[in-house]
Amino acid sequence: MSAKQNQRPASKQGSGVVGQPLNRVDGRLKVTGGARFAAEFPHDQMAYAVLIGSTIANGRIKGFDTSAAKRVPGVLAIITHENAPKLRPVATNPAEGDAAGRRVPLQSPVIYYHGQYIAVVVAETLEQTQQAAALVRVSYDEQPPAADMERERGKAYPPKGKVAGKPADTMRGNTDTGLAAANVRVDEIYRTPTEHHNPMEPHATIAVWDGDKLTIYDATQYTYGVRHAMATTFGVPEENVRCICKFTGGAFGCKGTVWSHVSLAAAAARVARRPVKLVTTRQQMFSNMGHRAETEQHVVLGATRAGKLTAIVHEGLSHTSTFDEYVEPFSKATHMLYACDNFKASQRLVALNVGTPTYMRAPGETSGMFALESALDELAYKLNLDPIQLRLVNYADTDPDTKLPWSTKLLKECYRTGAEHFGWARRKPAPRSMRDGRYLLGLGMATAVYPVNHFPSSARVRIQSDGSAIVESSTHDLGTGTYTVLTQIACETLGLPPERVEVIIGDTNLPKAMVSGGSSTVMSVGSSVQGAARAALAKLVETARADTRSPLYGASADQIVASDGRLALKSNDARGETYRDTLARAGMKEVEGSYDTEFNDKEKKFSSHAFGAQFAEVRVDPDFGEVRVTRFTGVFDIGRVMNMKTGQSQMKGGIIMGIGMALMEETVLDTNSGRLVNRDLAEYHVPVHADVPQLDVVLLENFDEHASPIGAKGAGEIGIVGAAAAVANAVYHATGVRVRELPITLDKLLGKGALA
Ligand code: MOS
Repeated sequence: MSAKQNQRPASKQGSGVVGQPLNRVDGRLKVTGGARFAAEFPHDQMAYAVLIGSTIANGRIKGFDTSAAKRVPGVLAIITHENAPKLRPVATNPAEGDAAGRRVPLQSPVIYYHGQYIAVVVAETLEQTQQAAALVRVSYDEQPPAADMERERGKAYPPKGKVAGKPADTMRGNTDTGLAAANVRVDEIYRTPTEHHNPMEPHATIAVWDGDKLTIYDATQYTYGVRHAMATTFGVPEENVRCICKFTGGAFGCKGTVWSHVSLAAAAARVARRPVKLVTTRQQMFSNMGHRAETEQHVVLGATRAGKLTAIVHEGLSHTSTFDEYVEPFSKATHMLYACDNFKASQRLVALNVGTPTYMRAPGETSGMFALESALDELAYKLNLDPIQLRLVNYADTDPDTKLPWSTKLLKECYRTGAEHFGWARRKPAPRSMRDGRYLLGLGMATAVYPVNHFPSSARVRIQSDGSAIVESSTHDLGTGTYTVLTQIACETLGLPPERVEVIIGDTNLPKAMVSGGSSTVMSVGSSVQGAARAALAKLVETARADTRSPLYGASADQIVASDGRLALKSNDARGETYRDTLARAGMKEVEGSYDTEFNDKEKKFSSHAFGAQFAEVRVDPDFGEVRVTRFTGVFDIGRVMNMKTGQSQMKGGIIMGIGMALMEETVLDTNSGRLVNRDLAEYHVPVHADVPQLDVVLLENFDEHASPIGAKGAGEIGIVGAAAAVANAVYHATGVRVRELPITLDKLLGKGALA
């Protein structure tokens, strides 16, 4: 069956268990420590691996002195490029903009970045391993690194691959003509720094070999991806590799790629002939698992006096590594967000001696919308137009890029509801016109958008003879609520209460699911769970109506409904029986249904996106330049809301990350040595509770049947999009100082000398 046949919106009105703010079904396990994360699976004879990172950012290893390290008791192996097993590269397809970062480790003496793994030490205990690792001596031939985008800009080059599926240089209409026709222009440069994901759970892998069979417990967003990568790296059949990941302690994109520590854990286990546990350090996570690339974005807007956009130019630079290509697609959303006939996008790359950047929560939109939505705000002031009004003037009734109709778009309602909730009407238009005692007060807003990404995925549902049901798919719960939402989706179709449904995920022995990235999991896997539940239920109905002893014997399938663990006639609830009775009488242990959801994206008839409107209030200390976010409202159209509580939590997490982006987060590279200056949570600042006000999140009611069979559009990423711009726009409104370079730290406000 295809997704198409599964498109009946069963409960469009959101009645029943779907949509309810059900508490996390895995909550008890989490708070009691019963939830096992990757590093928490015990094994007999477990050995420990510690990775050693390069202390230079560019050059070659001359040699190792491991003599002292080898004398540490319990040392089982010290693996370097001189003695490492051959590891095969995993093919990626840069022409498709495929994920980079899979450079094969320990195969040569070349150093590309600071912190790059150069050796693995394996020993009986973690302490012995750490001690031995500390005693390994390395000598290098060091070269000066490329560690400053500004300094390297002369060597900028066009990406080989696409930028979010499009050529790096695109033009719609003619922006020169468009700008010539403009009455008003904004022409500015916006900058975003390197940022890091920093999930609470570090990357961790346990590797266990049994002959040519490998079991990997991994902190990942993509179990099947790990399986594929390990099969390729070690030259064994895919079915020989099993990846298990029951819980992922946060990810935000950095656990979507199979980084080299996974291969190194497996290589170490092979060399040491022992199960090996490898947990990376926070500092290693700053060097080796990707990051959001630094951007320099040039945005030019042309508009008529009425605010109608006549041209949009969005071009600039982002960095990649010297050995691989990752493009931060900051121009992505600009293609489609506002109605404008003349649009140009252009992106270039600058190679630096750093690890390859990667996807980080709404990659592209997050950096790009800071620039675009700041520029729109600047345009609104130039035109003396309300920022919401400017966005409504340029509202796109169809997708300006693909010319397709929207599947659904409740963006106008997001603006309206947001303005109402936030009290936008109280905002005085002029900068520096509002105060709260001695503080400057500012109100700002921005639009949020994120595309619908759905992937083929499979699920199995088994209705058990005790009347309960088991749901299976090899998808992931990153802390997002996958267990809970899949439970609700199964309950809706099966007519069972949540406590009678068990969801089993995170194991490549289960039906295949793709990467839990791109906000895709619920709409992809959820659609499969719905399909599989329907298939299982259909078999149960068949069993009942074919059985002469059943009260439902002879009834037609469409006369039978399922609820409360019972099948009964629609017209007469008394005529029916429990699932348990049906299966017991038939002598069956279970009935099973499977479903593969496929999405036909080649013949898209609609453009599908989630939308939102973000509103921030800030209070700025005029003497010290300190910015506090005092209020925040986010209103979103994410299609059907599967769980009001986990859905709102997703938005809140995104907004908090956006506040961090606006005011704190910045990874600093020492431009001379190529070392990361602030590679821990003491120096890399993320928001804490005291930095975050009560967040007002509204999720609009919608059901987008073109986005996915279950009506959802995706919730994981849109919360961050627009959040930083809303804060930045509020800071301008408060102070009259436009900071175009994130994060907005007090030195930037005071440095402009404008606050006094
Ligand atoms: Mo996300 S950045 O697609 O994990």
